[in-house]
Amino acid sequence: MRVLVAGASGVIGHPLVGALRARGHQVSALVRDTSRAPDADETVVADALDRVSLLTAVEAARPDVVVHQMTALRLLRDDPAGAFARTARLRTEGTAHLVEAARAAGARRLVAQSIAFAAAPAGDPVLDEDAPLYVDAPDPGWAATVRAVAELERQVSSAAGLSGLVLRYGTLYGPGTAYAQTGGTGQRVLAGKLPLPEGGSGITSFLHVEDAVTATVAAVESEATGVLHITDDEPAPAADWLPHYARALGAPAPRTVPAAMAPRLLGWFTAHQLTAARGASNDRARTTLGWKPLRPSWRDGLGTR
Ligand SMILES: NC(=O)c1ccc[n+]([C@@H]2O[C@H](COP(=O)([O-])OP(=O)(O)OC[C@H]3O[C@@H](n4cnc5c(N)ncnc54)[C@H](OP(=O)(O)O)[C@@H]3O)[C@@H](O)[C@H]2O)c1
Repeated sequence: MRVLVAGASGVIGHPLVGALRARGHQVSALVRDTSRAPDADETVVADALDRVSLLTAVEAARPDVVVHQMTALRLLRDDPAGAFARTARLRTEGTAHLVEAARAAGARRLVAQSIAFAAAPAGDPVLDEDAPLYVDAPDPGWAATVRAVAELERQVSSAAGLSGLVLRYGTLYGPGTAYAQTGGTGQRVLAGKLPLPEGGSGITSFLHVEDAVTATVAAVESEATGVLHITDDEPAPAADWLPHYARALGAPAPRTVPAAMAPRLLGWFTAHQLTAARGASNDRARTTLGWKPLRPSWRDGLGTR
């Protein structure tokens, strides 16, 4: 198949291009800057927020399947507010442009990146894809992020003439991610600046980058539509994963702080992640895609690989 990967220079997009080519697909890498492009059958250049340049680039690639891996989260460490604002625009305007471009170029399928940690913290500790998203989160920044995620998912699922599939990836770890030793979270833990709120009962569903790639290849090759959680098999409370992660990094053991102080000490989102967040079940992806993670547990590699 002819596959266009938008966001081909990213943490997921870059290895995804190689994995799709290894499966025999003809892959076009869509990038903004050719110096960051992976080896591909063809490279096309566009900024997804520039509608005309995106339409032109996708048209030139004539893909059967388009993959949306675009975020601006690489900017997180230097400019968190800008990273979230730009990512929200990519999820709303960028997705609208990509849907239009895919249709105009004659593509039949669109697979798009979303997140598995946007559910409202209610009900069971581990939730499926039907759980409501946290669009009314008390933190305005997170509420805006989740609304943009919901809008991306709506656009992809309802794109007329395209079979759309949303992949909600778990919290990514592995090379190039925030949880790598050199990443933002890794550095925070190494510096002893990520304490554990008492109880540590917020649950995180992790995903190794390699498994994001294998799931996305399976998604490209399937006819599945809708929304799927792509996560490992072991949703984990912060009380389990954070001390393990610190040990694996060779960092000091995280100190415990009163849960009520967590938002002020850690910021709203991190406090939510460590105290209240729900995990995400991958049962539906296993059944629908016939996919399973190569790293079923974060214990195999979080903080080391
Ligand atoms: N997924 C999440 O919600 C989340 C949350 C927290 C942290 N993170 C961290 O963020 C990273 C996520 O990996 P990822 O592969 O999703 O993201 P990524 O590595 O930042 O890749 C994003 C891709 O989108 C492209 N892009 C950005 N703006 C664009 C635009 N206007 N037009 C066209 N392309 C554009 C980037 O191109 P350029 O190379 O040109 O920038 C890049 O290829 C990991 O390090 C993860 O730990 C993710």
